Amino acid sequence: MRRAILRTSKLALGATGCAAAAGVLSINSSKGLAAAEPASAKDLDVDGVGGRVYSALINRKVNACPMAIRVAWHASGTYDAAAETGGSDGATMRFEPERSDGANAGLFIIHDLLLQVKSALGSALSLADLWTLAGCKAVEFLGGPRVPFAFGRTDASPESARVPPNGLLPDASQGAEHLRDVFHRMGFDDRDIVALSGAHTVGRCHKVRSGFDGPWTTNPLKFDNEYFRNLMNLEWVPRKWDGPLQYTDAKTETLIMLPTDMALKTDPIFAPIAREYANDQSAFFRDFSSAFARLVAKGAPAACQPKPLSKCPKAAAAAELRDWAMHGSLEHINRLLAKHGNGTPVDGLAYVDVDAKEADTGRTAMHKAAFWGHAHVIAFLANTCLANVSPEDFAGDTPLHDAARFGHARIVRALLDVGANCSSKNRAGETPLALAVKHDKADVIALLTEHSQAELTNAAKARRESFLLAGASVPLKKEKKK
Ligand code: HEM
Repeated sequence: MRRAILRTSKLALGATGCAAAAGVLSINSSKGLAAAEPASAKDLDVDGVGGRVYSALINRKVNACPMAIRVAWHASGTYDAAAETGGSDGATMRFEPERSDGANAGLFIIHDLLLQVKSALGSALSLADLWTLAGCKAVEFLGGPRVPFAFGRTDASPESARVPPNGLLPDASQGAEHLRDVFHRMGFDDRDIVALSGAHTVGRCHKVRSGFDGPWTTNPLKFDNEYFRNLMNLEWVPRKWDGPLQYTDAKTETLIMLPTDMALKTDPIFAPIAREYANDQSAFFRDFSSAFARLVAKGAPAACQPKPLSKCPKAAAAAELRDWAMHGSLEHINRLLAKHGNGTPVDGLAYVDVDAKEADTGRTAMHKAAFWGHAHVIAFLANTCLANVSPEDFAGDTPLHDAARFGHARIVRALLDVGANCSSKNRAGETPLALAVKHDKADVIALLTEHSQAELTNAAKARRESFLLAGASVPLKKEKKK
């Protein structure tokens, strides 16, 4: 019964076959530019460049995601809405005096790490776009929400750059009034201030950089709502040390809060919002994604500004489903389906479109579950919701293409188990197997080859059986003429 209600698009189960796919596309392959350097920002795609950013930020040597988030924030947080100065456009952090602003100490490591992405993509990708995109992707890589992003920022020349003065970023030793001065200047409201401060759920303070020391959370490489849970639920006392005032948790003395963090707990307007985020991670994710998308677009051209979120409940529920599929949370998926998926309209909505595509990428919940390695969500979406297991995104990639490209054998297995189509070709003409070969993913090559051989055998068997059923004699092999 439930299956019929939840199902919203045609099944793609059972379609099979096998062949190849594309590397981490940095270029919109629908334009046939996959092999060449992209001509302009229009030819770039967010997930493709994101793949290159991933290798630059997360590898055997480092996980530099927290600092990448901070780079994006500092590149944008100089914005002054009244004067229309500062912000992410221009990549002005390369120039004095912003370059040697004490607040930016140490951040140039990220600029250097990202140079490999810049040199691979050339002039089509501005540093201003790269720094801000890296921050958005870093949030996602650490398990946080997807942050909408659009290319189009340009890099100013040393002669033309309007470099903002130093001192525009917040001072951690101050309180609520200062936070409002700084963030209201950028055009944010009080709710945005609390949501954005939640970025301190990742990373840590370094004595050598800021004078402060220590992490806010027990897992500084996981983007979740622990920062708010710690802030609101633990007891905080001033740390006794030879350094600026900061707070430590009374029980373990291992975690920290800055004076500006504590202001979120003591200010009567900030505190209920921080409490809400401590109790409801999805509310934090939703608000953070929206605020961070607006932050990295401060001072940038119109093309970079995030589109207002859809007010349509159908699109909103589908977007929420995609988010939970990305995070692998069956609990939240079930909660969403229980609210909207039982045939009784809630907010005018009686079902969730499990195959709905994200507007800018064409990606579905199945793509997200596969990309982020959630085999249990793949099985649930396919078997319970009867979702399409081989939808195509903007580049023609199916979930199987993604899994094959990155060598996720467990996910390839899960997709084959629910009937994924392994013969479909993306816009570059590549099948999942070709992609696995291209990226030298031995386990996946073995799985897909074995699968296609089993299919050929099954097809031959089926042909033979249909001959027999039709009463025809099975053609014998011709004897070789002597
Ligand atoms: C609300 C005012 C804010 C203040 C006063 C503040 C201050 C600081 C300070 C002092 C550090 C430590 C830097 C170091 O020693 O390496 C830090 C780190 C960090 N901040 Fe903030 N910050 C604020 C808001 C934000 C916002 C809005 C974001 C992003 C949305 C952000 C993201 C981060 C991240 C990810 C780190 C960790 C960096 C690392 O591990 O290297 N902060 N912040």
